[in-house]
Amino acid sequence: MPIKLIHRLLIAPLPYVPRSLIWQLSQRYIAGTDLEAAYGVVKQLNLEHCSATIDVLGEDCTSVEQTETARDLYLEALDGINSQSLNCNASVKLSEMGLRFDIDRCTEVMRTLLAKAREKSNFIRIDMEDSSVTTATLDIYRSLRKEFDNVGVVIQSTLRRSEQDIAELLDGGTTNIRLCKGIYVEPDDIAFTNPDEVRLSYCKLLEQLFVGGATRVGIATHDPKLVQFAEQLIERRKIDKERYEFQMLLGVARTMRTRLVDHGHPLRVYVPFGHRWYDYSMRRLRENPQIAAHLVRNLFSRG
Ligand code: FDA
Repeated sequence: MPIKLIHRLLIAPLPYVPRSLIWQLSQRYIAGTDLEAAYGVVKQLNLEHCSATIDVLGEDCTSVEQTETARDLYLEALDGINSQSLNCNASVKLSEMGLRFDIDRCTEVMRTLLAKAREKSNFIRIDMEDSSVTTATLDIYRSLRKEFDNVGVVIQSTLRRSEQDIAELLDGGTTNIRLCKGIYVEPDDIAFTNPDEVRLSYCKLLEQLFVGGATRVGIATHDPKLVQFAEQLIERRKIDKERYEFQMLLGVARTMRTRLVDHGHPLRVYVPFGHRWYDYSMRRLRENPQIAAHLVRNLFSRG
C-alpha cells in the first residue's frame, strides 16, 4: 500500500481519539503544563548528568497577544533557570514568535529573548520548522548571530538543500547547529524520503559540520546507527567535548541516553511543556503518523 495512503488512514481517526487518551499518550514526552513542572523535570535530568533545553509548546501563533504570552514565559523561564542554577537552555520556534505574520516583529522578539539569555549567561536555539520557513529561519539566524554569540539553529538531514545551507553557514562566522533528521513530511523534490538516504545525508552533514569547523554541534537523534556513527566519528577525529553534545527528546531512548552519559558524552534532553500540549501532540501525530506508532508502542512498554 502506498505510504501516503497509509498516512491518511492513520490520520483520519485522530480527531475522534479522546483528549484524555492523547494526554495519556503524550505525558511521557511532555514535562507538564507549567514552568514549575518543567523545572522539576530539568532538576531530575541534571541529577542524571544530563543538561536540558526547555520548549514552550505552541507554534504558528496568529496574533501579537499569543506571541507576547510565549515571549513572557520564555523570559520568566530564563530568570527561573538562572536563579535555580539549572543546567538548561531554551529552544524557540520562530512561528511561535510571529514568523508567519510579521518577520520584523519576530526578529525583534528574538532580540529581546537573546538579550535576556545573554544577561543570564544562557543560550537560545532556534528550532527548525517545515520547509516553507527554512530560508526565513536561516536568514533570521544569520542576522541574529552578528549581534549575539548565544544563538544556534537547526539543520534537517531530510532536506536536500542542507549541505549547501551548512556550507554557507560555516562561511559566515560562529556556527552552533543542532543536526536532526527533520520531523515534517516534505515533498520528494526537496527532501529525501527513503530512510536510508536520510541517514546517509545525516552522516555526511555531521562530518561536514565537524570538518568544516562548526563551533558546536548538537547531535539530535535516537537512531542507534547514527549514534554509533557519531561516536566513531568523534573518536576518529578526536572531537573535543566542547564541540558537541548528543541531544534526545524527553521520554525517548532512555537506555541509550544513559549509556552515552556513562561513556562521558555530553547529553542534553529536550523538555517541552505548556498549555498547548494538545495542539502540539495532534500536529505531531498528523504530520508524522510514525509517531503514533511510537506512542502506542510506548503505552504498552514503559522501559
Ligand atoms: P528515528 O525516527 O529513526 O528514531 C529512531 C528510534 O528512536 C525509533 O526507532 C524509536 O525507537 C525512537 N524514537 C524516535 N522518535 C521517537 C518518539 N517521538 N517517540 C518514541 N520513540 C521515538 N525536528 C525538526 O524538524 N526540527 C527541530 O527543530 C527538531 N528538534 C529536535 C530536537 C531534539 C533534541 C531531537 C532529539 C529531535 C528534534 N527533532 C526536530 C525531531 C527529529 O527531526 C526527528 O523527527 C526525531 O528525532 C526522530 O528521528 P531519529 O533521528 O531519532 O530517528
